[in-house]
Amino acid sequence: MSQLLLGSWIALLVGCTKPDPESNPGKTFPEAFKWGSATSGFQVEPGCPTWSDEVCVDTQSDWYAWVTSPEIIDSMPVTGEDVRHSPGMWETFEDDVQLMQQDGHTLYRLSIEWSRIFPDDASAATSVDELEPYANSAAILRYHEFFAALDAAGIEPLVTINHNTLPLWVHDGVGCHFDYENCTARGWADPATAYRIALYAGFVGREFGAEVDQWATLNEPFANLLSGYVQPGEDRAGPPGLTLAAEPGVAVIRNQIEAHAAMYDQLKTEDLSDVDEDGAAANVGIVLNMVAIDPKNPDRPEDDDAVAHADHLYHRLFLDGLTDGAWDEDIDGDFDTTRDDLADRLDWIGINYYNRMLVSSIAPFQPFGDLAPAFDFLPEFTWESYEEGIGRVVERASVYGLPIFITENGTPNTEDAEPILEGHLESLWQAIDAGADVRGYAYWSFVDNYEWSHGLDMRFGLYELDIATKARTPRPVAERYREIIAAHGLGPE
Ligand code: BGC
Repeated sequence: MSQLLLGSWIALLVGCTKPDPESNPGKTFPEAFKWGSATSGFQVEPGCPTWSDEVCVDTQSDWYAWVTSPEIIDSMPVTGEDVRHSPGMWETFEDDVQLMQQDGHTLYRLSIEWSRIFPDDASAATSVDELEPYANSAAILRYHEFFAALDAAGIEPLVTINHNTLPLWVHDGVGCHFDYENCTARGWADPATAYRIALYAGFVGREFGAEVDQWATLNEPFANLLSGYVQPGEDRAGPPGLTLAAEPGVAVIRNQIEAHAAMYDQLKTEDLSDVDEDGAAANVGIVLNMVAIDPKNPDRPEDDDAVAHADHLYHRLFLDGLTDGAWDEDIDGDFDTTRDDLADRLDWIGINYYNRMLVSSIAPFQPFGDLAPAFDFLPEFTWESYEEGIGRVVERASVYGLPIFITENGTPNTEDAEPILEGHLESLWQAIDAGADVRGYAYWSFVDNYEWSHGLDMRFGLYELDIATKARTPRPVAERYREIIAAHGLGPE
C-alpha cells in the first residue's frame, strides 16, 4: 500500500461519518445487497445418505489423506473423524438449495474441488487445451447440476476455485510431514503449483463460465501457511504440518500471491460469458482471513510494531501486492519493488471474519530469521466473539477502493449464535452506512461441516446436522437470519 493509501485509510478511520439511525431506522442494507451462506467441497460433500462412497467421497486430496492417515492421527492434533460424518451435499445439493431458497438466500458460496475434477496426475499439461483430456466428466457434470439448481432457485453462485485442498499429485502432505527432504509433491512450497493451479483455473473458467461470474481464487492463503508450515496446533493442523519451516513457509506465501495473479489472468481469458449482464464476465477476487489486530499490551510500544507487522503479513502482502504490485522480497515489513505481473489483479476483496487477534512483539527473536524478519510477533487467537471487529476489517479493506464481500462469518458457539450474528451485522451495517462498498454476506456455514482437523467437534451450521440420518434441523440462528433477510436489515431497536 502506498503512503497515499495509508493516509486515506487513517483519514477513513478518523473521519468516518457516524451512521445516522434516524435516516435509516430499519437499519436496512443497500438494495442490491445479497444474503446467503458458504461451504467448501471437502467440508460438506462426503457423507451421502444413499450414494456409494466411491461416488460420494473424494479420496484424492491432501486433506483427505491427512485426516485418514493413522500415523497423522496418532501424532498430530487431528481427530481423524470419519469424513462420511459430513453432510453429504454431493448427493443432497438440490434439497439443500431448496432450504436456502426458502430462507431467502440470494447468494451461495461453494468451492469446486480440484482433486475431484483432476484426480490423476495432470502435471504434463502445459495449456488448458492439454488439460482437458485429464478431466473427470462425472464430477464436471455434477457441478453443472449444482449450478443449474442454484440458477433455478435464483441464487447466485460465488465459486472458490481452491478452498484449502490440493490434489495428492500436487501435494503429498503426509509424506512431506514425515520426510520433507525426500517428498516430491510439495504443494504450495513448489512454484510449479502456482502454474498448475492457474491452468486449472483456466479450465474451470472455460467449463463453468456460462454459469458463474463471481470467482474467488484462493481461500485464506495465510491460514494455509500458519496451519501447515508455522504453527500446526489446536486451532488447526493441516498438511504438511511442519513447525516453523522457514524456507518452505516463505515460498508458500510467495507462490500463493503469484498463483492468484496467474489464476486471475487465466479466468479473464477463459470465462467470456457475462451471466448477469453487468459488463463483466469474470469478477475475480481473493478470500482472506482478515483479522482485527490489537496489541496484547497497549502500554508496550513494541507491541504496536508487532501490530504493524501482523497487518503486513495477514493483509498487505496480498492486498497491496495484488492492487499496486507491491512486493516485499525479504518479508521484512517494507515493500522493495513493484511487479507489473501482480498489479491490478483484484476485482473485489473477500473477507472471512471470525475474531480478533492480540499480538505481542517477540523481537529481536525472529523464528523465520533473515527469510522473513517481519515474523517477529506472537499471535494470540481465540474464539471469543468480538463483533465490532467485522466493521474494523471492512474499514481496513475499504482503503483499496474495491467492492467487498463477506465471504464467511459465523461462530462455533451455536448456543449464542443469534446475538453474535446480530452484533456482526450491526457492525457491518455501520461500516456500510459510513460508506463501505459491501455487496453481500455469506454466513459460515449453511450446515454443520467437517471442520478440518477438528472433524465435527466444532459446528458452525445454520442447520444442525444429524450425523446418522443426515437430517438438517434449523437452529434458532437460521430462523433469525431468515427474518433479517426478509426485512433486508436489522429492524428498529
Ligand atoms: C475456513 C473454513 C472454516 C472456517 C471456520 C475458515 O478458516 O475458510 O473452511 O471452516 O473458517 O473455522
